Amino acid sequence: MFPESILHTNRLILRPFDASDIPDTHASCADALTQRWLPLPKPYTLDDATNWCTTAAHALRDSGDGIQFAVTDAYTKRLMGQVGLKKTDWRALVSEVGYWVSPWARGHGIAAEATRALALWLLADQQFQRLELRAATENTASQKVALKAGFHPEGTLRNAGFVHGGRVDLVLFSMLPGDLAPPAQHYKS
Ligand SMILES: CC(C)(COP(=O)(O)OP(=O)(O)OC[C@H]1O[C@@H](n2cnc3c(N)ncnc32)[C@H](O)[C@@H]1OP(=O)(O)O)[C@@H](O)C(=O)NCCC(=O)NCCS
Repeated sequence: MFPESILHTNRLILRPFDASDIPDTHASCADALTQRWLPLPKPYTLDDATNWCTTAAHALRDSGDGIQFAVTDAYTKRLMGQVGLKKTDWRALVSEVGYWVSPWARGHGIAAEATRALALWLLADQQFQRLELRAATENTASQKVALKAGFHPEGTLRNAGFVHGGRVDLVLFSMLPGDLAPPAQHYKS
């Protein structure tokens, strides 16, 4: 299993979920856009949020499936979203990232900043060899997040996803350790 960890970026602290996140998780996961793109319980109740924050998110790490982070504002400490790893293949050293951003935090690059931090941690610190990201072909915002975070598109997985609206095609993205290298410097002669 992954070690319990806290990650820092310029604006964010990524930490384990706890009971203080229940009201904001409830509001974020009951939100219409989150419900459109993620197959969460519908309706999403306060009990669902309580279970996620206090039990399910932690059980997923304990099981080896991945690790789940509450994305919080480094200054106000308020919940801004979630980013996590799932479906981890420990033999191949491959995992998959997923995320949602709270309605009050959208449009500020939070998802890309949190996803980039998690990718760095996984591919550099944890020495994984591949991180995957899947986004519905119509989920333009999520595909922009993937590109901004440094992922490479690999193609379309037909009929591979399901949301409340039905089956969807998914764009597959990946990031490898070599993708983390800073761009080569160019000098003017
Ligand atoms: C997808 C999501 C995580 C993006 O989070 P975010 O932190 O607001 O992302 P950003 O601020 O970087 O915005 C993403 C980009 O998409 C654009 N965008 C937002 N909504 C859009 C829409 N409906 N159509 C086209 N572009 C859109 C933004 O303008 C931004 O573009 P820019 O980088 O060129 O400025 C957030 O919208 C969300 O929580 N959606 C619901 C859950 C979800 O889709 N999760 C991902 C499943 S794969």
